[in-house]
Amino acid sequence: MTIINPQYIYIDNHFQENLAVAFSDKIEAIDSLENLKEKYPNATIENGEKNSVLYPGFINTHVHLEFSANKTTLQYGEFMPWLDSVIANREELVGKCDNAMMMNECKAMMRSGITTFGAISSFGTELEVCMETPQKVLFFNELIGSNAATADMLYGDFLERLDASKKCGHGVIPAIAIHSPYSVHPIVLKRAVEVAKSEKLPISAHFLESQAEREWLEDSKGDFLEFFQKFFSTSIAVTTIDEFMQSFDDVPTHFTHAVQATKEELTYLAKHGHSIAHCPRSNRLLGCGRLPIEELIELNMPFTIATDGLSSNNSLNIFDELRAALMMHHLGPLENLANLLIKNITSTPAEIFNLNSGEIKVGKDADFALITLPDEAQSTQSIALQTILHTKEVERVYINGEAI
Ligand code: BEZ
Ligand code: FE2
Repeated sequence: MTIINPQYIYIDNHFQENLAVAFSDKIEAIDSLENLKEKYPNATIENGEKNSVLYPGFINTHVHLEFSANKTTLQYGEFMPWLDSVIANREELVGKCDNAMMMNECKAMMRSGITTFGAISSFGTELEVCMETPQKVLFFNELIGSNAATADMLYGDFLERLDASKKCGHGVIPAIAIHSPYSVHPIVLKRAVEVAKSEKLPISAHFLESQAEREWLEDSKGDFLEFFQKFFSTSIAVTTIDEFMQSFDDVPTHFTHAVQATKEELTYLAKHGHSIAHCPRSNRLLGCGRLPIEELIELNMPFTIATDGLSSNNSLNIFDELRAALMMHHLGPLENLANLLIKNITSTPAEIFNLNSGEIKVGKDADFALITLPDEAQSTQSIALQTILHTKEVERVYINGEAI
């Protein structure tokens, strides 16, 4: 048994003082240090420093580890030139990205307090690393293929990867990712959604990331027309926005981006129990716009903050992402936003994916991120904001009670 005694503990979206936490691999008790010492006389005591804050381990719901080799290769600023640069450099980037490189990025995530992440896997090449890292991983096997002639073959490949992820254990949770409405044929999409539903697997899908995607799905026009003519000899989108959304009616899905979704579409998604992964830096770098989070808040729709991969970002540090979100979303009171952002990398993703973490509460997994503020916070309401502003790396991370 270990007892950790920081200055503040983030419990129920508030910062509490004069409490400590006793834990093994699970959280056993939350009480005053004196009471816990009496209850567990043989426990190891870890005193946090002055101004230390204990958070539940952070959850990054959307990352592409396979693209970790990108630093300066891909073209940023607009979506279509970026996608063209991905197609042109994909083989080289994925080829350069070995296990050591991906493990380094897992460690970088861990140094920012991420104890669970959602790996969107196009090829399955990061599976070994995901088994090796102490972090918990939602392993989203991605389905792609809009062309009817090759869709079956690609679906078979997807099922094989899904099977491999089901067999590995080691904190790897098998899951399904749909690449996007424009790149997945509706027939195989329906089959994959059926698998998620019948096997109760987490499911996620990129959705309405760019204006180009919207134009293509609405009218088979815009920047995607040339792209599809060039690479797939077709001039017609395989689905519509409504048809795509309706495919997920029975299965709560984590939709990534949704920057270009209308209020009506967001309302439809909220009504069907879906959630959003919001990747502010990726959206900015690919010229996709700003997700109107105030509409999600109004709809009471759960959303998470996620880094996306290094194919559209300059780090996988969750604090870098939170700082970007804080600066991008200028509407509404600042401290409220900071508190919401912390919730959106802890209890909100845990609830979306039914994880036994994301909260400091008896019975939850002992996954923690311990940080120390550089000076005294002037009020408990400002701690989330000051944490986001001042934390580059955490002091310590615990996963299932083990200090990493
Ligand atoms: C496809 O496989 O259909 C596809 C892949 C990437 C971008 C667009 C379409
Ligand atoms: Fe993504």
